[in-house]
Amino acid sequence: MFADRLAKVAAQVGGHLDTVFTRFPDQDVIHAMRYAVAGGKRLRAFLVMESAALHDVPGRRAVQAAAAIEAMHAYSLVHDDLPCMDDDDLRRGRPTVHVKWDQATAVLAGDALQTLAFELLADPATHPDAAIRCDLVSALARAAGARGMVLGQARDIAAENCDTPPDLQQITALQAGKTGALIVWSAEAGARLAGADPAPMAAYANALGLAFQIADDILDVEGDAAKAGKRLNKDAGAGKATFVSLLGLDAAKTRARALVDEAEAALIPYGDAARNLREAARFVISREM
Ligand code: IPE
Ligand code: IPE
Ligand code: MG
Ligand code: MG
Ligand code: MG
Repeated sequence: MFADRLAKVAAQVGGHLDTVFTRFPDQDVIHAMRYAVAGGKRLRAFLVMESAALHDVPGRRAVQAAAAIEAMHAYSLVHDDLPCMDDDDLRRGRPTVHVKWDQATAVLAGDALQTLAFELLADPATHPDAAIRCDLVSALARAAGARGMVLGQARDIAAENCDTPPDLQQITALQAGKTGALIVWSAEAGARLAGADPAPMAAYANALGLAFQIADDILDVEGDAAKAGKRLNKDAGAGKATFVSLLGLDAAKTRARALVDEAEAALIPYGDAARNLREAARFVISREM
């Protein structure tokens, strides 16, 4: 079952992160980092591990990249939840980092989770070939930075209550940045670790990432907060630009389903070996958290 496979990856990557943190000093900021990176669905880690398996990459290497992307993702969430961004007090069913500690600790924990991601990728344990490690680092820098996640987040904030709400094309670009870029990196990582062409994985993950964010926006409207582990019914009040705000719930769901079909179609060249990634695509729009 897909849920079991996801849980197995979550345990593996969580265990690996625990080992990494044993080398860190006993400080509040480190406790906050560990707290922030704990839990979550681990979908990005799953994409790394599955794309690695598809490209015959050993799990001991892939788990480094999986831990790296979960650290990067956790940083993005810690900062996303800050009062100056989405101002959220609940994440993964627990108080957010700035609520449990303070804003300075949350900013610093986020910063250090981001650098930890690059530290993990640059470690020879990720791959003996420095060129491959450099490719992973450089691709993640592009995905997370000012042409990727940060750009999407900036556009997300800028679109709040602006005079002319973004159109479909602009929302698609916004979401491809804020959510899509890290998801695409995750799916590409296995190909990059194998020195293979990441383009087919990118085609899959571009569609998957967009479907994932549409599902997140739908959950904000009609999800169960206890299952989601975060506050819901916030986007409309904050004036967020989403597929739901532009198209309405029904059309957003139709779009998400079409994107899942598109993601699955991109996997055809891989045949049956890509069945777990196909299931991941279906999972992103059926999930309740
Ligand atoms: C939440 O991501 C933030 C978005 C990009 C929509 P996830 O839904 O993957 O969060 P976790 O990691 O499972 O908590
Ligand atoms: C967050 O998007 C995306 C990133 C953290 C990059 P959202 O703001 O929609 O995520 P949630 O709903 O708070 O999880
Ligand atoms: Mg946000
Ligand atoms: Mg948010
Ligand atoms: Mg959201």
